[in-house]
Amino acid sequence: MANKVSIELDGVSLKVQAGITVKKVMELNGYKVAKYPEPASLFTPCETGGCWSCAVEVNGQPQRACVTSVSDGLSIRTVLPDNYVPRRIVTGFSGHQVGGVGTPWYLKSAGGYIETACFAAGCNFRCPQCQNWDITYQSQGRPLSPREAAERMTEARDKFAVDRMAISGGESTLNRRWLLEYVRELKQLNSDPKARIHVDTNGSILTKDYIDELVEAGMTDVGPDLKGLHLESFMRITGIEDQDLAERYHSTAWEAVIYLTEEYKGRVFTGVGIPYNRKLISVQEIGMMGEKLSKIDPELQVCVLDYRPEFKKLNLVKPSYAEMVEVHRILSGKGLKTVVCQTKYGHIGPST
Ligand code: FES
Repeated sequence: MANKVSIELDGVSLKVQAGITVKKVMELNGYKVAKYPEPASLFTPCETGGCWSCAVEVNGQPQRACVTSVSDGLSIRTVLPDNYVPRRIVTGFSGHQVGGVGTPWYLKSAGGYIETACFAAGCNFRCPQCQNWDITYQSQGRPLSPREAAERMTEARDKFAVDRMAISGGESTLNRRWLLEYVRELKQLNSDPKARIHVDTNGSILTKDYIDELVEAGMTDVGPDLKGLHLESFMRITGIEDQDLAERYHSTAWEAVIYLTEEYKGRVFTGVGIPYNRKLISVQEIGMMGEKLSKIDPELQVCVLDYRPEFKKLNLVKPSYAEMVEVHRILSGKGLKTVVCQTKYGHIGPST
């Protein structure tokens, strides 16, 4: 039949529309596909080819279900072989002078390189003002195994003579097995007590058991970004249109901050990120976020990022220095002891 191709899906012969993705074929044939991790589901959080969470076997090779099109004679096995090594597109591996929200504030003003960072492609958010969109939506390039990425990061640590090693993105947590193995490998290659392994994340799938596993693997620092208190702001900032999904991501991120504070204070350094641009979130809401965070732990480091015109939101105006001073004043006024505000002139720190 025209435009139809013959394929095999887990041993079952099918005729399907030519050119549709493997993910679509699975959906059409009753397989569960999810954007929040669920048991017995194909997890497809980014759908742009970066994270490799959706890997299946196609003609004997691992391929991404979200971006691989079907053609005549294709054979798909949805269960990967036991010896499958996870992979992910990761770039960067270079020195950084500023760090992320999970970098202790006093290091930010120390000058020179303070950490090395790599960036994982693929994100489950669609922030219209994404500041890392070129990395986030990257789908080409050889994906790295956890070991390869850990070796590159260790080389970068040596080269830039730092102790902190960060992974950011995109969203670093999407491919759970890959991230856990990467942190374990990194810990093994950097077993000295000075080594710090920092995970920068939007926190949206960072459940308690995931946090436990990351800490067990070797994570020492974490920077969850909370993109709003109200769901409406969260959806505006993240570009997520599905309200149920947005609710799950939003509540998981807030619960992650609570759990990190209750379970790991003193053991894992936690720095929380908050976005600010008055077109995206009001100062009143920023104040309410400050109040909530102060109740969780007044000693939490809270870093406010001044969202600038970027990606699809070139009409944004970068917050003025005076606005960031005001945001700093509001958050400090809620009892938070470590508020850091990013501005065009550098950071406003707790003692300013
Ligand atoms: S969901 Fe397919 S690569 Fe991320």
